[in-house]
Amino acid sequence: MKFLARTLSFACLAFVASPAAADTTFEKIKVEAGEKLYNSECRKCHAADASGPSYGPPLENIVGRGAGMVQDYDYSTSLEASGIVWTPAALRAWMEDNDGFMPGTKMRHVGIEDRTVQDFIIAYLTSITTQDNAAISE
Ligand code: HEC
Repeated sequence: MKFLARTLSFACLAFVASPAAADTTFEKIKVEAGEKLYNSECRKCHAADASGPSYGPPLENIVGRGAGMVQDYDYSTSLEASGIVWTPAALRAWMEDNDGFMPGTKMRHVGIEDRTVQDFIIAYLTSITTQDNAAISE
């Protein structure tokens, strides 16, 4: 009985003490959902891995990066001259209405207005961002 009580209190402690674990699981689910959405909405034009072929610029390390930074990619003048940084808010506005957000871009309109879908895609893009983009100043 004493053993059971101790086991139970451990179990409770573990439960109470693990909000971080719950966050991590939630984050993982968001990333997985985001990857599926990315595959259906973005991957046909954007490789996630900069070493592969890609019609649009590859989106590896995009979160927090300045616009138009993939070397050798032939960006539109609008995108190259925009001076924007791909924060989550900018990515949201872009997914929602890219040609309204940046007239003259050559990315076809994608029109993703659902905030949850945007969230998932951003979670995935964050997971493939492995460098500290604050270090990029150009
Ligand atoms: C039909 C092809 C196509 C689809 C689908 C597409 N894109 Fe693009 N994307 C492009 C092209 C082409 C550019 C370059 C635009 C320019 O130079 O004006 C671009 C540019 C971008 C950029 C700017 C990258 C940089 O280096 O500054 C981001 C961010 C981006 N797309 C995100 C997305 C996301 C997220 C999705 C899916 C929700 C998506 N795109 C779907 C073709 C596409």
